[in-house]
Amino acid sequence: MSSYKAVTWNRNKLIYDAVAIAAVVLYIQVYRHFGAMAGRDGIAPDDATLSMKAFGSCAFVLLSGILSIGPLARLDRRFLPLLYNRRHLGVLTCTVAAGHVASVLSWYFAYSDLPPLRALLVADTSVAQLAGFAFVILGVGAFVILLVLAATSHDFWLAFLGPRVWKAIHMAVYGAYALVFGHIAFGALQDARSPALAIMCALSAATLVVLHLLAGRKGAVEDGQFAPTAATTPWVVACDIGEIREGRGFVVKLPDGEPVAIFRHEGRLSAVSNLCAHQNGPLGEGRLVDGCITCPWHGFQYRLEDGCSPPPFTERISTYRLMLDGGRVLLDPRPNPPGTRVSAVVIPQAHQTPVNETSAP
Ligand code: HEM
Ligand code: FES
Repeated sequence: MSSYKAVTWNRNKLIYDAVAIAAVVLYIQVYRHFGAMAGRDGIAPDDATLSMKAFGSCAFVLLSGILSIGPLARLDRRFLPLLYNRRHLGVLTCTVAAGHVASVLSWYFAYSDLPPLRALLVADTSVAQLAGFAFVILGVGAFVILLVLAATSHDFWLAFLGPRVWKAIHMAVYGAYALVFGHIAFGALQDARSPALAIMCALSAATLVVLHLLAGRKGAVEDGQFAPTAATTPWVVACDIGEIREGRGFVVKLPDGEPVAIFRHEGRLSAVSNLCAHQNGPLGEGRLVDGCITCPWHGFQYRLEDGCSPPPFTERISTYRLMLDGGRVLLDPRPNPPGTRVSAVVIPQAHQTPVNETSAP
């Protein structure tokens, strides 16, 4: 049986990784250099504290960056290359967070009678008070999530768990962010004299909220809304023909939330699931190459007529039935089994010129 080798090392990925690692090394060096000058009451902070702060804040910045990439790529396709590399950034974040934990263990618990790891887990469990909230436990929770996500980031786990389960697990990255936020708010911020950390946290949270709201709004505007037809028929109104540009997809959400991509290609309409079989990438945002839908995330391809990947590949996605009612596109919301051939709907001459073709980016 053949399988994809699309997500492998290539020159671009190596360059992205090299740039990311160089940026991390530079950040930590610069932080340690300037941090050493900015001690309290004329006393320079010790080396372990500086490392702990440098690695911790770097991991937080990386985590904020990772969560920004999704909405950025949705708002502007030029950010898509970052999306391709997001898993590597996740592993890097976990490695940097491990540097933070190692500094903490080597210093904060160095004088404990207990072994450092045990001391870490029994110390600071004052969950009842707000100011002394067990911020270390929140950090441990975030670190465990980062470890699980890094360990399952390989394509083996994607194939083993399936895209839906894999993606559901990886949504825990938002939980990790919330835990780190609490870790900092109830820990370092309680005693911070300089506003730098508070400003970093506020900027990070505000950026993420704004980006997600903007991307959500763009999605809502672009995605079609279903208007049910007469209750006696399963067909629903997907959109007007003019809304679908030649050579492009148009995404509509079914009443049960399932997204469907309707493509217009050489005067015909076809509909398939919007979710790529690889990692649920948004197929409706992909281009048509050689008559195949090409996923914008990692390039998996599917034939318009049956949702099958061209040989020798074996991936399949669900297809949907379409029909025209004047200028309205009707869709049968019941998905066909993946790989089912469906005849494309021919667009009559009267509707051949898409209304908004000229507004293509
Ligand atoms: C086993 C997991 C963790 C432990 C034991 C831990 C422990 C600590 C400790 C003891 C501090 C010092 C607090 C203070 O100065 O009052 C701290 C601060 C911090 N931690 Fe963690 N942490 C963990 C995980 C994480 C993770 C996963 C991140 C980020 C992704 C993170 C980011 C930070 C940041 C940004 C600070 C504030 C540094 C500063 O003062 O500038 N920590 N952590
Ligand atoms: S090719 Fe990876 S999600 Fe589509």
